[in-house]
Amino acid sequence: MKILAIETSCDESAISVLNASGEALNPVFDVLASSIHSQIDIHAEYGGVFPSLAKREHMRNLPLVFETVMKKLSAKRGGKTPNQETLDVMERNAEMRELSKIHVFPYENPDIEAIAITIGPGLEPALWVGISFAQALSLHWNIPVIPVNHMKGHLFSVMYENKNITWPALALLVSGGHTEIIYAKDWNNTSVIGRTRDDAAGEAFDKVARTIGLPYPGGPEISKLAKIARNENRPDFFNFPRPMKNSDDFDFSFSGLKTSVMYAVKKHGEMTQTDKENFARSFEDAVIETLCVKVIKAIKKYNVSSLIVAGGVASNEYLRDQISLLAKRNDVNLHISEPNISTDNATMIGMAGYIEYLQDNQVLKKNPLEINALGNLSI
Ligand code: KG4
Ligand code: ZN
Repeated sequence: MKILAIETSCDESAISVLNASGEALNPVFDVLASSIHSQIDIHAEYGGVFPSLAKREHMRNLPLVFETVMKKLSAKRGGKTPNQETLDVMERNAEMRELSKIHVFPYENPDIEAIAITIGPGLEPALWVGISFAQALSLHWNIPVIPVNHMKGHLFSVMYENKNITWPALALLVSGGHTEIIYAKDWNNTSVIGRTRDDAAGEAFDKVARTIGLPYPGGPEISKLAKIARNENRPDFFNFPRPMKNSDDFDFSFSGLKTSVMYAVKKHGEMTQTDKENFARSFEDAVIETLCVKVIKAIKKYNVSSLIVAGGVASNEYLRDQISLLAKRNDVNLHISEPNISTDNATMIGMAGYIEYLQDNQVLKKNPLEINALGNLSI
């Protein structure tokens, strides 16, 4: 099945076209073309993502990303003019009209059979841009739309290398918006057993980075500095708290840790580069240890065969090292999404969309115009 996948839940406008085949337990994916436009530079000025700004940027960039993908596929121009139904819907939906008139209509369908679209969780104004675009394309090319949960996308990102996952599995999903531990009997039977009660791990990285004067997104910046301090064998100078480390559940809380860092920074006064490295290292140690402690606890309670780690923070080198060690010690098969597919992208949405279709072929019969953005959708 040839799928065109769209992702606009946060600050990346991404489209990917992939060929998907095989069964749900052993699917095969082949990416034919993809393009991504990141808004990171724009949000960096403000130190975080602003929904209305994100929407404006998606409106501008998603059609260009679409054109790039169509060109990569050598899609023919000169497609048919939109039918009356498409025009009527466009008439009622200003966003769809603006998004599609120049960019969607000139292209003939390059044999795409379905569109996979992120419907949530995420920023609703941003999600709507992708959904409106998918609806216009679906009407114009007369193909179905598969709604996809963004977090399932992160979960499926580990399939990029076509790995065989053994079940049941635990998944640690760590991103800028989410920090969750999931128990999964298989791809389609998942339940959240622990989650953050306040900030997500990635969000804490971003906020702490800002406090110590590092640009957005903070994760990679903190990681770089922390590595220097660690490689020089400096001690963990600040020994920040490991929040909820000893609690009986699998929940997290990163907001208190963030506040501790803020107080320590304030107390410290002027900072040299070495100070920044030490702060970054102490903070990273605290976050990663907290994540690992809860994962070990969950592995001990649930008799799982695999551990999946995905989401933007999964590209953190120290987390990858520590998780690899704990997987070996606890005898579970580890699947961490590769850094190039762990931050938001459309390929993971296409993969999740295909699995969704295999589990529920009624999904193709859904009316695309009834699809809604669900900002708080859970997995
Ligand atoms: O999954 P993602 O791209 O977007 C969301 O769905 O939220 O995750 C973005 C988050 C940001 O908070 C970013 O700081 C964090 O992932 N991140 C990292 C690293 N790379 C990205 N955090 C820690 N270490 C990294 N190397
Ligand atoms: Zn994400």
